[in-house]
Amino acid sequence: MREPAIVASVLGADYARLGREVAELETAGVDRVQWDIMDGRFVPNLSFGADVVAACRGHTTVPYEAHLMVEDPDPWLQPFADAGCDTALVQVDVLLVMTVNPGFGGQAYLETMEGKGAEARRLIEGTGLPISIEVDGDISAATAPGAVRAGAELLVAGSAILTHPEGRAAAVAQLRRAITTTTTTGIHSKREEAG
Ligand code: DX5
Repeated sequence: MREPAIVASVLGADYARLGREVAELETAGVDRVQWDIMDGRFVPNLSFGADVVAACRGHTTVPYEAHLMVEDPDPWLQPFADAGCDTALVQVDVLLVMTVNPGFGGQAYLETMEGKGAEARRLIEGTGLPISIEVDGDISAATAPGAVRAGAELLVAGSAILTHPEGRAAAVAQLRRAITTTTTTGIHSKREEAG
């Protein structure tokens, strides 16, 4: 199993200092930054435009992904690509499984969604297509093992990194340890874990 990547969601970051926030997240060790793009229609919230993403592009070198929670994503693919996003989460390059109700960070993990991730993994394997599974919502050192066991190859974490009491580097290191432990012990089901 390829080791899952850590993707920092900046939905809960300090918007008055976003450039420095993304730079700090790169220093903390995240693999990617996710921009939650919301139109107030697909989800009951508004967030960033492409200009905000573009303004932060030069502050970091990690890949950016635009999670387009918008009713009509097509017209936004090029503007967010031009703004410096490497990935748009609408097409089926990456299947994003939400483990919270979309629209807000800091919510509680929906463990019931792990079954959706495992089913998605089974269906994807049946197609033979190189589609990755990303899991997004209240990912932390506590919830990451379940998400990884359910097939997550990318884990989106916002609050667990941004508000960790020991700082962002400690948060990323703790999350990375939880991921590595799960992938290296090869536990693929809670039944196996229980022994
Ligand atoms: C919610 C967003 C998530 C959220 C994750 O609609 O898609 O990316 O920001 O934040 P946490 O990790 O705090 O749940």
